Amino acid sequence: MKQLMAANWKMYKTAGEAREVADELVKLVGEVPEGREVLVIPPFTALYAVAGAMNHGTGFHLGAQNFYPEAEGAFTGEISPAMLRDACCSYALAGHSERRHVMGEDDAFIGRKVAYGLEQGLRMILCVGELLEERKAGRVEEVLRSQLEKGLSGVPQDVPAEDIVVAYEPVWAIGTGEVAGPDEIVHAHAFVRSVLVDLFGEKGHEIRIQYGGSVKPANCSEIIALDNVDGVLVGGASLQAESFSQIVKA
Ligand code: PGA
Repeated sequence: MKQLMAANWKMYKTAGEAREVADELVKLVGEVPEGREVLVIPPFTALYAVAGAMNHGTGFHLGAQNFYPEAEGAFTGEISPAMLRDACCSYALAGHSERRHVMGEDDAFIGRKVAYGLEQGLRMILCVGELLEERKAGRVEEVLRSQLEKGLSGVPQDVPAEDIVVAYEPVWAIGTGEVAGPDEIVHAHAFVRSVLVDLFGEKGHEIRIQYGGSVKPANCSEIIALDNVDGVLVGGASLQAESFSQIVKA
């Protein structure tokens, strides 16, 4: 399985700014390291601009931060998976902590998105992770199991393993500079793996599990070497080509 090195640009960058950074990234990365894929997830308005830059590199993929799980219709302000495929996206996120906690999306809605995105030909990255108070209360496993079971409940058993990705992102580590320690990451990823095997049998071993939360060039090589870490999902440190290219090559 290829390690998935993903840049989540959140609500940053105009199309012009995104194109500039993507062009520089393709140049700095050069050849994507063997056994890795690079994924850039810009805001919707920058998708075409970034797609143009990615055309010049191989091993680069484009993703979407969100969509609405319907084909089309009267859903003002929303965007469909078919529109995202048309804009060159092959991946999409669901369940990111900002959508759970700022936009109030619940597990049932997130599960609908995962199932519908897969059905529409997108590879889906389901983000899961506990709040600080849940960690302090010893509820990490309970929270992860519940988010995984509900988030993946509509996924058919015959979906290829490479089409599903889980990103473990402890909420207290996102954008805070406070990265989870190696023991915390190894423990959480082993637990996610065990739930994936419960849900999908042998195929659960082939599903990629990314770590996300304050990944930086300085800590990436240590994190990516840990057991059951099959990639990283990077916010802040992915906004500049220089630092994200270092992460891609870490
Ligand atoms: P961060 O964000 O790298 O800025 O902590 C990660 C994410 O939200 O995916």
